[in-house]
Amino acid sequence: MKIIMLGAPGAGKGTQAKKIAEKYGVPHISTGDIFRANIKAGTELGMKAKGYMDQGLLVPDEVTIGMLLDRIHQDDCEKGYVLDGFPRTIPQAESLTKALAEMGEAIDFAIDVDVPDENIISRMSGRRACLKCGATYHTQFAPPAKEGVCDVCGSELVLRDDDKPETVKNRLKVYHEQTQPLIDYYKEKGVLHTVDGTQTMEAVFQSITEILGA
Ligand code: AP5
Ligand code: MG
Ligand code: ZN
Repeated sequence: MKIIMLGAPGAGKGTQAKKIAEKYGVPHISTGDIFRANIKAGTELGMKAKGYMDQGLLVPDEVTIGMLLDRIHQDDCEKGYVLDGFPRTIPQAESLTKALAEMGEAIDFAIDVDVPDENIISRMSGRRACLKCGATYHTQFAPPAKEGVCDVCGSELVLRDDDKPETVKNRLKVYHEQTQPLIDYYKEKGVLHTVDGTQTMEAVFQSITEILGA
């Protein structure tokens, strides 16, 4: 089962991708999480990515595509995966389609988590992230058991550098220009499904499981 999560920054792609990964037993692959882990570890890849991310810009395709294709060729991806934050540009989508076609495969589901821009900014300012294990919380909608501490691994929670309102506005602009066209791309391939991302997290997940099946 190969799934792509589409949707604006803060739409809830990561939140839902984690639930999907758990229920269907496939790895959750977030390019944003991979970049943040590399920034934290101080790798060359992380240093390349950080400047773009902090401005709300996309990391160049030359860096991102190779990294993602390497990841999906690892052994744990044999049964499928849920991609969160990739593809984000038409060239990324075309590279993925081509790489899969070479193995006689294709994406099964592209799920667009639809949330209007107005809702996004307030969601982002309440988000808290664990940079160690990738868990995500919200001060209002999904608080951790102990304030500021990750339920999963006990690390300190932080406001992501790119969740400041100014940067969020840039990310939304970039989303509309470069990523939204993927909705039509996957519609034409006949695999697009849209869910209303303004519902509660549980209701969004319910809509997604109806699409994916038991
Ligand atoms: P990335 O990490 O992918 O960020 P993003 O797409 O901007 O998405 P977010 O992670 O901000 O939001 P989300 O949709 O996952 O929402 P979440 O579930 O956390 O990318 C970061 C950067 O890395 C990019 O800007 C770019 O620079 C670079 N990058 C990454 N991939 C790239 C690529 N392929 N190409 C080039 N560059 C790339 O939810 C948000 C908040 O809302 C949380 O607090 C959550 O608890 C809460 N929430 C979720 N659902 C609900 C709900 N239903 N109701 C109420 N609150 C909710
Ligand atoms: Mg995310
Ligand atoms: Zn954690």
